[in-house]
Amino acid sequence: MKRSGIATAYTFAACLASPALAQMSVEDQIETRQAAFQFAAWNMGKIKAQVVDGSVAYNPEQMQAAANAVAAVANSGLGSLFGPGTGMDQADGTKLKPAFFDEPDKAREIAIRFAQEASKLQAVARAGDADALAQQFRAVGQSCKACHDRYRAK
Ligand code: HEC
Repeated sequence: MKRSGIATAYTFAACLASPALAQMSVEDQIETRQAAFQFAAWNMGKIKAQVVDGSVAYNPEQMQAAANAVAAVANSGLGSLFGPGTGMDQADGTKLKPAFFDEPDKAREIAIRFAQEASKLQAVARAGDADALAQQFRAVGQSCKACHDRYRAK
């Protein structure tokens, strides 16, 4: 799992370095990445409700489906939705800070972490231990937050 997370994160990084791969318009890249993050957040919310808050009864199959979705987003090559000209200094309707483009090594490190933690979430959900899933949910949440703190405007 860890290895595939790293490979995917490198894909993210490779896409950053290969603007030719981003054939979508700036607008479409922004809309698609926002939708992808919304979808990830919706699935993170299901996990939180069942294994962190306990506001919804624990259902292992639903937890696997949710974790699969988060991992799929993290491993989808999201980097190609962060093409040149999609920062908030150059485009409307986005909160992506220009810092993202100024420090590719740090952005890569943060993306790798997200892919690793999301892949681990998928493995933990499959194993079916609710407490372990709650713990890994927090680790994924921290990897989301690390990126938001640095690259997403308030
Ligand atoms: C690699 C950096 C990065 C990671 C990792 C990341 N995000 Fe984000 N997220 C962003 C950026 C940048 C934006 C703003 C995108 C824009 O406005 O173009 C954003 C926006 C969002 C939004 C708002 C989308 C909208 O409609 O505008 C939500 C919700 C969100 N992220 C949730 C999450 C969750 C949940 C995770 C972890 C499971 C996560 N993000 C991981 C960078 C990241």
